[in-house]
Amino acid sequence: MCGIVGYIGSQEAAPILLKGLKKLEYRGYDSAGIAVHHNGIQVVKTKGRLAELEHKVQEMGGVSGFSGIGHTRWATHGAPSDINSHPHSSTNGRISVVHNGIIENYIQLKAELEEKGCRFVSETDTEVVAQLFDYYYHGDMVETLIQVIHRVRGSYALGIICSEKPDEVLAVRKDSPLLVGISKDGNYIASDIPAVLEHTKDYYLLEDNEIVVLKKDGVTILDMNKQEIKKDVYHVTWDFSAAEKGGYDHFMMKEMMEQPKAMRDSINPRITDGLVQLDEIQYTDEDIRKINRIHMIACGSAWHAGMVGKYVIEECARIPVEVDLASEFRYRNPILHPDDICIIISQSGETADTLAALREAKRQGIRVLAIVNAVGSSIARESDDVLYTWAGPEIAVATTKGYSTQVALMYLLALKFGQAKGTLSDEEVKKLVTELYTVPEKMESLLQMTKEMEELANMQAKATDVFVIGRGIDYAVALEGSLKLKEISYIHSEAYAAGELKHGTISLIEEGTPVIAIATQDSLYEKLVSNVKEVKARGAYVIALAKEGNTEIAEVADHVIYIPTVDDKFTASLDVIPLQLFSYYAAIARGCDVDMPRNLAKSVTVE
Ligand code: F6R
Repeated sequence: MCGIVGYIGSQEAAPILLKGLKKLEYRGYDSAGIAVHHNGIQVVKTKGRLAELEHKVQEMGGVSGFSGIGHTRWATHGAPSDINSHPHSSTNGRISVVHNGIIENYIQLKAELEEKGCRFVSETDTEVVAQLFDYYYHGDMVETLIQVIHRVRGSYALGIICSEKPDEVLAVRKDSPLLVGISKDGNYIASDIPAVLEHTKDYYLLEDNEIVVLKKDGVTILDMNKQEIKKDVYHVTWDFSAAEKGGYDHFMMKEMMEQPKAMRDSINPRITDGLVQLDEIQYTDEDIRKINRIHMIACGSAWHAGMVGKYVIEECARIPVEVDLASEFRYRNPILHPDDICIIISQSGETADTLAALREAKRQGIRVLAIVNAVGSSIARESDDVLYTWAGPEIAVATTKGYSTQVALMYLLALKFGQAKGTLSDEEVKKLVTELYTVPEKMESLLQMTKEMEELANMQAKATDVFVIGRGIDYAVALEGSLKLKEISYIHSEAYAAGELKHGTISLIEEGTPVIAIATQDSLYEKLVSNVKEVKARGAYVIALAKEGNTEIAEVADHVIYIPTVDDKFTASLDVIPLQLFSYYAAIARGCDVDMPRNLAKSVTVE
């Protein structure tokens, strides 16, 4: 949801900013722009993808200067256009600003500034920050920023430069991600680590309203009383190649292929003597036994991982689990018992609704456990306990390894809770853990099905509607498979609990309508076969997913994809692979941009 980057140092700023933006393009690609200190401030910006900005800069013969800020936009206020692109400047050109977030009171501030004679040119909320900053500015950047912070409401990660201070880049964040990169050759701000990982592995993580003054040879971080804050350096262990395509055509394909490794990384270190051991969290067995109810809260695919969690935790630990969309939970006045816990799931750790739901749970005194991928993200920092998914950087907008590792954590929690409550004996846990260890290898064998899935996707690429059905955990995976398909291939798709289809939706099935039927739960297999017969009778083209050996389904389905046998609790990790591959190849066949689907951005930092 918009990416920002900033640099000051001994190198030319523009190439560093443009490269940084390339790495942040997954956060929004409606427009891009940079502002560089050069005899004042030189701003170059344009509607469209970063390539268009690069072209514009090239045509100008480059932009010279050693400090500046850059932005890649996911439009919220004002359509994608040149004029609405960031950076935004004050009328006199003295101040330039890049922003990720939403200034909620911008209409009032704009009216107030217009009365004072300011002329606004864009429809954005951000321009108000540039104008307000300029209005308050009397030579002290930090003092001015404090005044601005007192006036604006909403969320922001801001990078600000002033033509009168060519040796400074100023930054601040509140409820939007921003970190500071430090190195010998200069200092950086960025929405996310990959933007500047090429230059440094050392970072400062920021709390809300900590003010950052970047200079060529140092970084000062101040609180709102201008007192200096000393920070620990966070050192990133993964290297630059982790955020590169590594020979694949798309990040999504690379990340799909990384799933088995990511699963191992998130599962193996948490197993000791065949039992689950979660040393990172402060839950005693007594704490677990006291849990009254779990509220699983997330958005999108992370919510789907939570749905898998509901089935496996209820089954293994007999603890009731409610799965809530964060955007609903935060506003519906949820009923929470003091012995309830919230499990917040988020790859980015910055999703605005999920963060707000976390805060609502904490406000009500509920203990919050976060399942997060991005280390040091807001959700990780604000939760009582964190379990990291260790998937590494995920760049493609459509999540794959992020989702799979969230599901892995659901398994571990289910086993751990079952272990602590005694609903699973140690022997049963050990047996399940042995089975779980086989999952990554089985994922690897499914990932070799690229040819088969490509052919199938090519056959169905002209479909207008696809239904994905399943029962139990298979239904939870259907939700994820259906989302993957629609978000990257733009084929309309709906997921249904297979038993629910005949309560209305079956009327949409016509001759040739593709139905993907997931039939990988042993206890529900026969029920699914009946559901397949029902849709076949209405003319559907059925692609079924079944466990190896369950061949009867081939008699009713048009095409069967067999997954290796595995305990029913872990099928989600295998079923999702062919569904991801199918979506990927359907998107390619339809000429879609797999890594950057239209209208989307990876990290949704606005509500
Ligand atoms: C879909 C997808 C989204 C995210 C959702 C939550 O492929 O990636 O649905 O799952 O926006 O994002 P996080 O997990 O970062 O909170």
